[in-house]
Amino acid sequence: MPQPIRIGIIGAGGIARSAHIPSYQSYGQDVQVIAVSNHNKDKAVECAEEFSIPYAYENEQQMLEEQNLDAVSICTPNKFHASQAIAALQAGCHVLCEKPPAMTVEEAEKMMLEAERAGKILTYGFHFRFQPEVETLKKYIDGHELGEIYAAQTHYNRRRGIPGWGVFTNKELQGGGTLIDNGVHMLDTALYLMGYPKPKTVLGATYQKIGQRQGVGLMGEWDYENFSVEDMARGMITFENGSSLMFESTFAANQEELSSKKVSVIGDEGGADLFPLKIFQEKYDTLVDTTPAYVEKRDANEYLIHDFVECMIHDKQPLSTPSEGVRIQQIIQALYESAKTGEAVNIN
Ligand SMILES: NC(=O)c1ccc[n+]([C@@H]2O[C@H](COP(=O)([O-])OP(=O)(O)OC[C@H]3O[C@@H](n4cnc5c(N)ncnc54)[C@H](O)[C@@H]3O)[C@@H](O)[C@H]2O)c1
Repeated sequence: MPQPIRIGIIGAGGIARSAHIPSYQSYGQDVQVIAVSNHNKDKAVECAEEFSIPYAYENEQQMLEEQNLDAVSICTPNKFHASQAIAALQAGCHVLCEKPPAMTVEEAEKMMLEAERAGKILTYGFHFRFQPEVETLKKYIDGHELGEIYAAQTHYNRRRGIPGWGVFTNKELQGGGTLIDNGVHMLDTALYLMGYPKPKTVLGATYQKIGQRQGVGLMGEWDYENFSVEDMARGMITFENGSSLMFESTFAANQEELSSKKVSVIGDEGGADLFPLKIFQEKYDTLVDTTPAYVEKRDANEYLIHDFVECMIHDKQPLSTPSEGVRIQQIIQALYESAKTGEAVNIN
């Protein structure tokens, strides 16, 4: 891999500015953010000036043709992930695409196939995998301390946490609401800990009860008049290996806590909760709970992006793989379909 590694950014909004660009720039001299592209050129120019990025574009294709980039971060609304990731892979770039992978399973599959054809890295912005607690629990699981994981449960709930910025409430641009925005992080974390088993059946329900009216906005004032996504999603997923997962996420719901998130995994030798981490086991004729005395504080987004760079340098695949991208997209699509029909959906 030639150095410095030349990075391009597509989409100059919140996550590009708060996570991707600063994290590439904090890596050091071996990595340079060369260009940023945004369909609104003013935003690209403003971002380039703020972060001292040499080139700004309004058309990512032109950026890809002119800049001989090694890698691209896709930080646009979900509707554009697949086409832009595929264009970047075809231009010979490694790709870090924000979550969720795409809008449909078909798109996620095309992205995976293009990455295989190009022989380039394709990975996704599932940064919770880089949280120290998740890393520790993964070591417990890989060390067989919990035995066979056969059940999991996740939630990521906000009482009034509908984002008041960006396009998070726009179904056409994002494909959904709380399920694909905050909920998907917990879903990915649980699947990762379970070994990303192959999904078999999904039963889901979604609700739109609060987002379409004005109310208390703990994450800013949202555009309730154009709110077109679900504010609650719930589901049950069974997997081919016999395990199962229960899922819930909310942008807004009438519940006690303002915000809470949790992943629980249950194995035949032990169980665990995350956020915070607690391990439950039966040992030496008694029941034992284990909690860490110290948890490192870190910026998981920065770790994810630095890991992406390391994987380019050392020719490795990052933690989140294209085939996992397809699997999580299968679950998302099936959950929405099930919510629409009221029937469980089988995944082939
Ligand atoms: N990993 C995380 O925790 C996390 C957090 C926030 C957002 N995200 C993801 O990041 C992506 C972007 O979210 P955001 O919060 O930065 O949104 P944002 O609205 O702040 O930024 C998106 C940017 O893309 C630009 N854009 C829109 N359409 C475009 C197109 N066709 N081509 C080029 N630029 C275009 C917009 O003008 C805007 O500048 C989404 O996929 C979202 O799910 C991930």
